[in-house]
Amino acid sequence: MGVTILIGSQWGDEGKGKVVDLLSQSVDIVARYQGGANAGHTIVIDGKQHVLHLIPSGIFTPGVKCVIGNGTVVDPESLLAEIDMLQKVGIDLEGRLFVSHRAHLIMPYHKLLDAASEKRRNNSGKSIGTTGRGIGPAYIDKYNRRGIRIVDLLDRDVFEEKLRANLAVHNDTLQKIYGLDALRAEDIMEQYLNYDELIDPYVTETSALLNEALREGKRVLAEGAQGVLLDVDHGTYPYVTSSSPTSGGACSGLGIPPTAVDSIWGVVKAYATRVGNGPFPTELTDATGELLQRAGNEFGTTTGRSRRCGWLDLVALRYSVQLNGIDSLALTKLDVLNSLPEIRLCTSYVRDGKPLKHFPAEVSYLNNPQCEYETFAGWQQSLAGIERFEDLPPATIKYIQRIEEFCGVPVRLISVGPDRRQTLTRF
Ligand code: GDP
Ligand code: IMO
Ligand code: MG
Repeated sequence: MGVTILIGSQWGDEGKGKVVDLLSQSVDIVARYQGGANAGHTIVIDGKQHVLHLIPSGIFTPGVKCVIGNGTVVDPESLLAEIDMLQKVGIDLEGRLFVSHRAHLIMPYHKLLDAASEKRRNNSGKSIGTTGRGIGPAYIDKYNRRGIRIVDLLDRDVFEEKLRANLAVHNDTLQKIYGLDALRAEDIMEQYLNYDELIDPYVTETSALLNEALREGKRVLAEGAQGVLLDVDHGTYPYVTSSSPTSGGACSGLGIPPTAVDSIWGVVKAYATRVGNGPFPTELTDATGELLQRAGNEFGTTTGRSRRCGWLDLVALRYSVQLNGIDSLALTKLDVLNSLPEIRLCTSYVRDGKPLKHFPAEVSYLNNPQCEYETFAGWQQSLAGIERFEDLPPATIKYIQRIEEFCGVPVRLISVGPDRRQTLTRF
């Protein structure tokens, strides 16, 4: 009764920011439930591009409230930079931005540990390719029950005690294992108590806020970050992030009951990309992959790294639909395929001559998959200016219909360019 969840159905960067911005027009609240500033969500309004890392993508819709939920990990420095950026472009945040006091803080040692452990893994060729935002180490502390939450900033003594206890452990690791300098509690205290003053107006009990709004009949859109295949349980582990981007993560990450959820959108790019390391069954390392990268401007929003590109993987998408209960698909970046003479869809993974029944858990298979493809004729024309689904070229319609048929879910939104206006809806 009132909650729509929107998730990335692949490896992130599907265009969630754009779709959330559009759907925000028919909701009262948009809420982030997991992850942190590892996300980079892009919104383009009248040709002007905005990138958000933590603040929900509903912030550009006047009147919509935005919640950063308890399941997220908040880097106050990054949050303040974002608040500043929004204020500079004239976005009013007063009474519109709410941050959970239960959310865990990203601390300076989390970022150092993230970078140092990646460097070490890299020496054995096994780095994950994280965004370096301290996400993994912050969630480790949370689950190890020593994390520092935003609420801890309220009491200077509590904060200091927790910080010193954490530094006792993490300075040891930084110095003895990674050969780095120890961090000083006094420096971090000063920095974080200063942040506290600046973020304090936004901090509140967000679960109560959301549940009260739902009782009043308000509509909430839960905005997933990352994507299903980066989920710590269901993704291509260990090449994943440290949270639960799947729809299941939204209830615990916001403190709302599953009975409040009534619809689930999956955002899917018309092809596939992955940034960072790990298996990518339909990856193209040839000229077509390069073309997709160039035409799609596939460079990471958060780190600037180039994104690996490949064909749309329907085996993975169907897995995603099943795991999350996706009932509507938003198909993005269809325009990037405009010039291709031929387009492929992966429709089966094969092992020992037989199609696999389930999306495999073994990285060893996913690294050396046998993918079977269906080939489609490209439409080789611009999609600009087309406003209705029926007016799309027949070859485009055929491609979309095959995706719908394979997954058993309707494509209800089609994006043909980064701008708000470059969108076709079927609702
Ligand atoms: P998110 O993390 O899922 O929000 O996606 P990102 O913002 O990281 O990456 C998506 C990129 O594609 C951004 O640069 C968007 O502006 C852009 N984009 C979104 N939809 C479309 C589309 O339909 N066509 C094109 N060409 N670009 C798009
Ligand atoms: P949005 O919300 C794409 C990837 C990283 C790395 C792995 C783990 O913009 O779609 P982390 O820093 O989370 O520990 O890195 O996850 N990753 C993303 N890839 N989009 C994202 O977010 C991502 N957030 C993390 O590249 O492979
Ligand atoms: Mg992104």
